[in-house]
Amino acid sequence: MIHHVVAEGINEDVIILLHGTGGNENDLLTLSNYIAKDATKIGIRGRILESGMPRFFKRLSPGVFDIENLIEETLWLKQAIDTLLDQYELKNKNLHVLGYSNGANIASSLNFYYPELFKTSLLFHPMMPFETFDYPLLKHQNIFIAAGKNDPIVPHEQTIELATIYQKYGAHVDVFWSYSGHQITQASILEAHQFFQKINPST
Ligand code: MLT
Repeated sequence: MIHHVVAEGINEDVIILLHGTGGNENDLLTLSNYIAKDATKIGIRGRILESGMPRFFKRLSPGVFDIENLIEETLWLKQAIDTLLDQYELKNKNLHVLGYSNGANIASSLNFYYPELFKTSLLFHPMMPFETFDYPLLKHQNIFIAAGKNDPIVPHEQTIELATIYQKYGAHVDVFWSYSGHQITQASILEAHQFFQKINPST
């Protein structure tokens, strides 16, 4: 069973919403309306539970990921997305992703496994999902990263390393730094909105 929510839009864009640890499928709906109000949104809940908190994959300790499980859940999430696109007849639309924290991390994993899946990725406070990976060409991808100078969870070097990887393999990347911690700020929502509109001008 895929816990999810769908908010129908009026244009050709579909944004997959992936929440942070302890969140659910509804968390990013309001925020995503500020970014792309006319797009269809599909919020999906991660199926891993950590002390009752939903996540998209297991971790061994904060910041240390269970890579085997991350790969397994990446494959599950891809199938879940395909199933939902079929179910709601959205297969031919432009697909994008918006992820926060744990959701942003699995969004990058999806990007590395399925480089043609998402046109735009809006990643709020992401980390490096893998220490090593045989990266494919990522030239189809447009990546917005929001990072906090005072983020206690994501070291600056990881943000820079992630942006560098995306760039090195051909993606178009914008990084927006604020003085925030791990939370999403209004300024980063506005920047994400501008980035999204620039990449998808008809929306
Ligand atoms: C993770 O994937 O574990 C995160 O980036 C940190 C968190 O979700 O708390």
